[in-house]
Amino acid sequence: MEHFSVVQTLCRIGLEGADPRFRKQVERLRDRLRGGDDEKSASALDRLLSGAQSEHTLTPSAVEVSRLLVTGDELTSNVHPPADRETSVPLAEIILQPGMGKPSPIYSETLSLALGAMLGEWQRVDALRAMGVEPSRSCLIYGPPGTGKTLTAFWLAAQLGLPVVNARIDGLVSSFLGTTARNIANLFAFANRYRCMLVLDEFDAVAKMRDDPHEVGEIKRVVNTLLQNLDARAGTGLTVAITNHDALLDTAVWRRFENHIRIDMPDERTRVVMLSTFLNPLPVEEDVVRTLAFVVGKRSGSFLKNFADALKRVLAIGGVQVSAASILGAARAIVPRMAIAGAETSPAALFVEDEAKFVGALLASGLGIRQASIAKMLNLSQSTISRYAQDYAA
Ligand SMILES: Nc1ncnc2c1ncn2[C@@H]1O[C@H](COP(=O)(O)OP(=O)(O)OP(=O)(O)O)[C@@H](O)[C@H]1O
Ligand SMILES: [Mg+2]
Repeated sequence: MEHFSVVQTLCRIGLEGADPRFRKQVERLRDRLRGGDDEKSASALDRLLSGAQSEHTLTPSAVEVSRLLVTGDELTSNVHPPADRETSVPLAEIILQPGMGKPSPIYSETLSLALGAMLGEWQRVDALRAMGVEPSRSCLIYGPPGTGKTLTAFWLAAQLGLPVVNARIDGLVSSFLGTTARNIANLFAFANRYRCMLVLDEFDAVAKMRDDPHEVGEIKRVVNTLLQNLDARAGTGLTVAITNHDALLDTAVWRRFENHIRIDMPDERTRVVMLSTFLNPLPVEEDVVRTLAFVVGKRSGSFLKNFADALKRVLAIGGVQVSAASILGAARAIVPRMAIAGAETSPAALFVEDEAKFVGALLASGLGIRQASIAKMLNLSQSTISRYAQDYAA
């Protein structure tokens, strides 16, 4: 066959996609070649077809993996979430592709390991069953605001190839107190019917209700409905609840979850990785990123994302060439706007108000940022930096 090497390459690339329709067409081509007495080309395609098959049986796709974990009807864009009967407000949002348009979360090493272990369990249901155990199916993610909890729930779903049924419990509770119990039951019935990950965001709203002196009877009923529905879902669906206020949850609720993942404020190393990722595609040297991380201090991923975006805006509008000095200059323009305030001696305050003390603090921080880098970033001469360093040491 003419140009067969090109056709062969096309087939190899196409078969990597594991689309059954593509496979069918390659089989048709093989049969035609065989019928036309081109046995050599036909066998080459045979080899490609059987190679692709064994590869795909060895590495099942995320969707195949999650079919072992969660069954149910397929969610499509034609399926609508349940709504409150009186107000018609939807009780949840359906996200068919929870990973789309979302950045990959960045974690400390410890957190990465914890999440990886849980995900690994969810991805190896066959191995667990061979051992006679069932996988865990629920997880409570908790920690301070803006640390990536919601992002993590969506990322987990994306890794498993599962769509998300996302319910914000605060909305469900506060707007429809009179009908909350029924709404919760409807929400769970919906999630149990479909192959999905049920995400219960702002989960502490239920716990907070207990402090409400009104509607005591109603509140009890709501909490009980929630606990019963969580129990009923335990052996089948996959449920991830999220809260900022873990202290508000009582042990009865806490116990309902098999995994508890705390997402804390990022440590220094993680903050540096976050900032340099968020500053992409700006070419930013390591010393600059570490200095910026020092300036903003112990902040959440969400804060760092906003900070990096603000920095990019200042640089874009200023129309200046991106350099260590212009990045630090832009940071100086936004730090006062970003509510970084705090002690007068905080690195952020010194950065804006007292250059000499800032340089001293930076040198004393133990981050190991070289004097030459500091000089470049702050547009200072090497001798000024040495003087600041001496003043600081004195
Ligand atoms: N660990 C992280 N890795 C990458 N990006 C992060 C991380 N944490 C926060 N972000 C950024 O901040 C945004 C907000 O994060 P997210 O909504 O997941 O926080 P949260 O913990 O759910 O906050 P809240 O408690 O306020 O609901 C994300 O979309 C992302 O841009
Ligand atoms: Mg959130």
